[in-house]
Amino acid sequence: MNFEEIVKKDKEFFVQGYARVPLVLVEGQGAILKDINGKEYIDCFAGIAVSNVGHAHDRLVQAATNQMKKLIHTSGRFFNIPQTLLVEKLEEITPTYLKHTYLCNSGTEAVENAVKLVKKHAYSQGKPGGTLIALEGSFHGRLGYALSLTGQGKYKKGLANYTNIPGIVHAPVPYSYRTKMDEDELGTDCALAVEEIIDKHIVGDVAAFIMEPILGEGGIIVPPVSYFETIARILKERDIPFILDEVQSGFGRTGKLFAAEHWDLNPDLMTMAKGMGGGMPIGAVIASSKIANSVESGDFFSTYGGNPVCSAVALENIEILRDENLIQNATKIGKIFFDGLLDLQKKHSLIGDIRGKGLMIGIELVQNQETKKPASEETNKIVNYLKDEGIIIGLGGIFGNVLRLQPPLCINEDQANKVLEEIEEVFGKL
Ligand SMILES: Cc1ncc(COP(=O)(O)O)c(C=O)c1O
Repeated sequence: MNFEEIVKKDKEFFVQGYARVPLVLVEGQGAILKDINGKEYIDCFAGIAVSNVGHAHDRLVQAATNQMKKLIHTSGRFFNIPQTLLVEKLEEITPTYLKHTYLCNSGTEAVENAVKLVKKHAYSQGKPGGTLIALEGSFHGRLGYALSLTGQGKYKKGLANYTNIPGIVHAPVPYSYRTKMDEDELGTDCALAVEEIIDKHIVGDVAAFIMEPILGEGGIIVPPVSYFETIARILKERDIPFILDEVQSGFGRTGKLFAAEHWDLNPDLMTMAKGMGGGMPIGAVIASSKIANSVESGDFFSTYGGNPVCSAVALENIEILRDENLIQNATKIGKIFFDGLLDLQKKHSLIGDIRGKGLMIGIELVQNQETKKPASEETNKIVNYLKDEGIIIGLGGIFGNVLRLQPPLCINEDQANKVLEEIEEVFGKL
């Protein structure tokens, strides 16, 4: 089949709910992808922050093949060795209080199960398991609670009855580029808004507060330190569970194994997926003993969750991140990108803001530096121009005006410089 035939068949047989980049990808190696016509691309999106160790990594292929030859599936009714080793490893590598893992198949499911855990915890304490607080501009998934928690209306169009799960409140996001306030003041103010919501507006108990440490789909928004400090105090004082959604920021993406480490965060629950399995469908929620102990046998189950093949690959993936110093590489190459982009910003007024950590970088484009009017159309054009020049880059942001640089963490200096050159050329064209 050629490109046109595939696109035609997709239109005919696939539910047309995806906004796709017009590319049929067939192969990958490291940070390079190849399309059906043999054209090569430097991948700066890693399948949405998933292929952190790079495409077709030999050790991942081996781990999957070895396990597949032995046993592909057991179901959650039985123990399996890779699953047990994986949950033990997750306890070792995640923040202090996190100990017990539930394995599932995606980020959305990880969030759903985190919600179920905090509801169960509230119930075990004789509380009705009330309100959940999430951030405006956040993204937590496309189904059920995960979608209701998501703080962007664009994902909920025409789904009112489906997404308006009662008992969810959204608090302001500390998006410093879009205010005139001092960053620290903004962080404190936004966190205090959560306190006000809890104390003045919520009747009954709060089941949990959930946030991404760096908002990914929302446009790589990095909250100020003051936000984390104040929110931690507010939640601790009230004994409200803190769910940290590391689905996009985890597994080395930000130059730390988990973004929580940048701010010494100690959540009660953490959700993971994407970079966890190097492309295999696996997700997880890890919780403190206090939360996890409220679960009774029979409360949770998944046919595929903790599947031996996905678990074996996830374990190997964690080892590769360490053995190949990919987390350090994320910091090193991230700096090359930041420096190059800051230089570019001096020449192009379209670049309003550059932000992020490690290899989770957002470039916010605006039509006017003063008004900060989002340059959404131009952002879209740049993504397409770059594709034609052999660079795959992400697109996101509350206004659809943020270029997202989230390559495999194995991307090298030459590739990063080539990406910067192409970005510069494309900005020149505009
Ligand atoms: C922070 C965050 N949470 C949850 C999800 C949902 O993950 P999935 O698409 O694997 O269901 C995403 C996906 O982009 C995400 O970025």
